[in-house]
Amino acid sequence: MNIAFNNDWLFTEDYDAGFDNAVSVRLPHTAKEIPYNYIDCRDYQMVCGYRKVFTASEDWQGKKLLLRFDGAAHEATVFCNGEKVGYHACGYTAFCVDITDFVKPGCENVIDVRLDTQESLNIPPFGFVIDYLCYGGLYREVTLEVKDPEYIQEVLIENTGLREIRVRVSSECGNVVTDIVDKNGKVISSAVGKAFELNVPEAELWSVDSPTLYTARVRAMRSGECVDEKSVRFGFRTVRFKSDGFYLNGERLKIRGLNRHQSYAYVGYAMPKSVQEFDAEILKSELGVNAVRTSHYPQSQHFISRCDELGLLVFTEIPGWQHIGDADWKQQAVKNTDEMVRQYMHHPSIMLWGVRINESQDCDELYRRTNAVAHTLDSGRQTSGVRYIEKSHLLEDVYAYNDFSHCGDNAGLKPKKSVTTKKNNGYLVSECNGHMFPTKPFDDERHRLSHALRHAKVLDAMYADSDISGIFPWCMFDYNTHQDFGSGDGICYHGVMDMFRNPKLATAVYASQSDDKPCCVVSSSMDIGEHPAGDIGKVYVFTNADCVRLYKDGVFVREFAPSRDEYPALPHPPVIIDDFIGELLITQEGFDEKTAQAVKECLLAVAKFGPSSLPPKILAKFARLMLLKGFKFSDGVELYGKYVGNWGGEATKWRFDAVKGGRIVCSVTHSPGQCVHLEVSASKTRLCEGDTYDAAAVRIRAVDEYGNLAPYWQEPVILKCSGPIELTGPEIISLKGGSGGCYVKTCGISGTASLGVNDVEIKFEINA
Ligand code: GAL
Repeated sequence: MNIAFNNDWLFTEDYDAGFDNAVSVRLPHTAKEIPYNYIDCRDYQMVCGYRKVFTASEDWQGKKLLLRFDGAAHEATVFCNGEKVGYHACGYTAFCVDITDFVKPGCENVIDVRLDTQESLNIPPFGFVIDYLCYGGLYREVTLEVKDPEYIQEVLIENTGLREIRVRVSSECGNVVTDIVDKNGKVISSAVGKAFELNVPEAELWSVDSPTLYTARVRAMRSGECVDEKSVRFGFRTVRFKSDGFYLNGERLKIRGLNRHQSYAYVGYAMPKSVQEFDAEILKSELGVNAVRTSHYPQSQHFISRCDELGLLVFTEIPGWQHIGDADWKQQAVKNTDEMVRQYMHHPSIMLWGVRINESQDCDELYRRTNAVAHTLDSGRQTSGVRYIEKSHLLEDVYAYNDFSHCGDNAGLKPKKSVTTKKNNGYLVSECNGHMFPTKPFDDERHRLSHALRHAKVLDAMYADSDISGIFPWCMFDYNTHQDFGSGDGICYHGVMDMFRNPKLATAVYASQSDDKPCCVVSSSMDIGEHPAGDIGKVYVFTNADCVRLYKDGVFVREFAPSRDEYPALPHPPVIIDDFIGELLITQEGFDEKTAQAVKECLLAVAKFGPSSLPPKILAKFARLMLLKGFKFSDGVELYGKYVGNWGGEATKWRFDAVKGGRIVCSVTHSPGQCVHLEVSASKTRLCEGDTYDAAAVRIRAVDEYGNLAPYWQEPVILKCSGPIELTGPEIISLKGGSGGCYVKTCGISGTASLGVNDVEIKFEINA
């Protein structure tokens, strides 16, 4: 029996002061809520205490009682009725405490947790600077497991071949039976014993397109009776990095991923299941990627399980950031490796273990040990480790390198051979971009476009180079960080999304590479005044369509094809629009083709160089038009106003139709917005109190009458909850770059609730 132990905890910020002034909290819990930015990271560092009082049932007599903590950041000492029963260091892996001998059946019992959340602890990732906040708290769930003494302690499932697994069960019980069950509950294979191998020819494979899952239902049997049962979900598949790429089930697949931190505004790491899952859903369906790296630590089991279900590949790694500490610290890193592999091994989505401290120097002595742990426990996966140093020692199988060489106008990525001499090993780009070009949602259009193009460039370079298995650009969303990093306000604006997962333009680069759904995002608002000297430059349309047709005030201008010349290897290169006059001089002014071309060249040159600095070639062209076609200077001025400046009259409406297979699949209109309203969406509106509270991530965007983001709408937004939900974060926020968000969570009561976002209301049904 598993009993969720997430409600009715008492929490005190000062463990030594006791629980007299403690407050009642629910898990997941963050030791301290923090502001959106300008954070004092000392606020969440403390030695805090959690207390849970519970009545032990008489029926638990003779049972094994285990308390499982899924995440206690960062050093936990657990007491039961005043006796120390357990200790665990590492805020990113789970642990179990055996409280059997300390619990008084039929009585009230007290669990106390002394939790040290300080970043000065001598454990990974601590010891030097870190580019992310390491929030504290009992930020994942806790469960009380009431078990038969011959319970099943652990089930390890290794993928040893395409449809082959090796299963190892730890239990005191002499008779263990395992059934492999498909999604319909049908048993497709069975085995008896605690260590066995199975070949299941009829098993369907797990893949990114068809993520079929199975469950190993393991039962401990005594005298024909099942005394304990553990179900572990897994998949049949093989993953292999070779010198020429990554192979899933023997088929080569380019990895297009992103890095993800597990953090959220205000509450840091503390988010329940559905919000964790939502990030996986965003990656799969909004960003269209096929992989994610859990930088720089093992992340929520809920998140990884959702990756299993959705078919997202995962590169997960031990906690750490550049620094390697003393012998005790290293021992902890080895222990972390062991815990990570054991606890996450069953996930088919995980394709690679990161067993080096992110971006650390070579340390063969340590990495021999971490590699040995991973390889001994799991023969089905290779190891890697993320480095920024070139030609470093490779004790792992796969060389993972943070390639920050792209700066906008050079090659997207370095060739493998310039990074490592290990030409027979797999090679992976584990980070790129990031700090090379921080981008805020409220940066100007050119900046936002450059950000997007840098992502397009590195992706293109990855696709072009068969030596590169895949890429994990930095990163999925903006995140809070320490003073040594970020923009001085405690935020690294490195995301393709903002902290609330609102998309920046760069998101469209990823979304447009997938064929799952039509995508058409135009890089420009088409307002020339946003650009120096009014020169709008090239407009990029990130689309997976065959072409884009441009219309001006409903009149066809020209059709544009994807730019294979600039992005030869991308599945879907962006469409570059550099001619906003197109056929208009023919269709609207009645010019013949040659005259129209000459006039267009003159007009575009005026836009580019200004009327007083025109190149001689253009001056000559205009002189010819005057001489042979009777053009006057005033005609030029009028045509310029009409086709370049687009001044006067009604505001110009630009329509971009994305066409695929001869059909319009998506249409975007840009025109100066005059009427901004809020668009509010929630990750879910049916919230369900289960093992703990539920929450919804709410995204807020200011959009104009054409549905386009109003990036300079920075106005206040009032958030007001009514009914049985609570708001996480402040009640008044301002949008940043036209975007913002908040979270709402349930509070144990059923009913209908609503969140008011200025004049927009969003309703929630709560099922408690
Ligand atoms: C890397 C590091 C990441 C992040 C990134 C910013 O060096 O591994 O954690 O700091 O730089 O671009």
